[in-house]
Amino acid sequence: MFLPNLLKGQVAIVTGGGTGLGLAIAKRLGELGARIVIGSRNSENIEKGSAELRHAGLDPLAVQVDVRNPEQVDEMIQRTIRHFGRIDILVNNAAGNFVVKAEELSPNGWNAVIGIVLNGSFYCSRAVGQHMIARGGGGAIVSILANYVWTGSAGTVHSAAAKAGVMSMTQTLAVEWARHQIRVNAVAPGPIVSPGAAKQLWRTPEDVQRITDMVPLKRWGKPEEIADAVAYLVAPGAGFITGEILTVDGGSWLGRGTFGFI
Ligand code: HXC
Ligand code: NAP
Repeated sequence: MFLPNLLKGQVAIVTGGGTGLGLAIAKRLGELGARIVIGSRNSENIEKGSAELRHAGLDPLAVQVDVRNPEQVDEMIQRTIRHFGRIDILVNNAAGNFVVKAEELSPNGWNAVIGIVLNGSFYCSRAVGQHMIARGGGGAIVSILANYVWTGSAGTVHSAAAKAGVMSMTQTLAVEWARHQIRVNAVAPGPIVSPGAAKQLWRTPEDVQRITDMVPLKRWGKPEEIADAVAYLVAPGAGFITGEILTVDGGSWLGRGTFGFI
């Protein structure tokens, strides 16, 4: 379904919006009429992402930001307000991850992932929430989790703990900010085709096959399928949904049950 005016007049920030899922989300929100801001650390990523968005007929603002740094996050918010005048949507998509045995993970490695995923999502939500409340309320925040918030994730303890923290933050803010008509939700993807994630997490054809075998639908998700889930959650049609975690994973996290072998 393509409704070009669904988000008309709204302004959306997508962290990590220069690559992968974030770029697909930025593109979809832009196609639906929102004005787009993408932010991440690496200028090459946000420049390439901006070029792709311009190619799709959009006119994004690209901001270099490390979401671990609250001053830089505040500066991104101020630049957005100077440029577009308001913020209606925040997508906490920026993340870091790598496969490591827990006993071999250094404190710095733990802090790197917790810093990006948990602290970064809070700093961005806090700054955007302050703006939305000061403006008189209204707005939508969506965080990108992972389907292992339901199960834990052997091999990525830092990411699993951080994403579960963001899930709890989502449920908490949904209640705290309901009085301001700010809806706070999350999407929990399973394996989605993405060069950035592939570099960190699945490097061999055997890894890819093993992961495919674990998906009941027997395929990987597409970034556009995550973008559609985000678009649904921020759109007026989801106006009574807050504190929800929408899993988009081809049934991966569900157990097979005793007779799943049939
Ligand atoms: C062990 C590692 C490591 C690895 C880094 N470290 N990579 N330890 N195995 N593969 C350790 C380093 O040794 C260092 O600790 C500490 O982590 C910080 O490393 P830096 O390189 O200095 O960190 P930084 O430059 O801040 O980079 C952050 C990062 C990096 C998270 C480590 O991978 C990154 O920038 N990632 C962004 C992109 C990304 O990860 N995308 C994937 C998202 S997919 P010491 O002790 O040596 O100083 C996803 C969900 C997938 O999240 C779910 C699938 C179902
Ligand atoms: P990706 O392309 O590597 O995306 C990660 C993004 O985060 C990059 O754009 C990166 O840009 C940005 N980023 C990292 N650290 C940052 C920081 N400190 N400050 C600001 N931006 C930062 O991988 P992806 O697969 O698209 O992941 C997107 C989201 O989906 C993440 O939340 C991830 O956990 C989630 N997810 C992905 C999958 C999957 O299978 N692909 C599954 C479940 C969940 P810079 O390097 O320029 O900073």
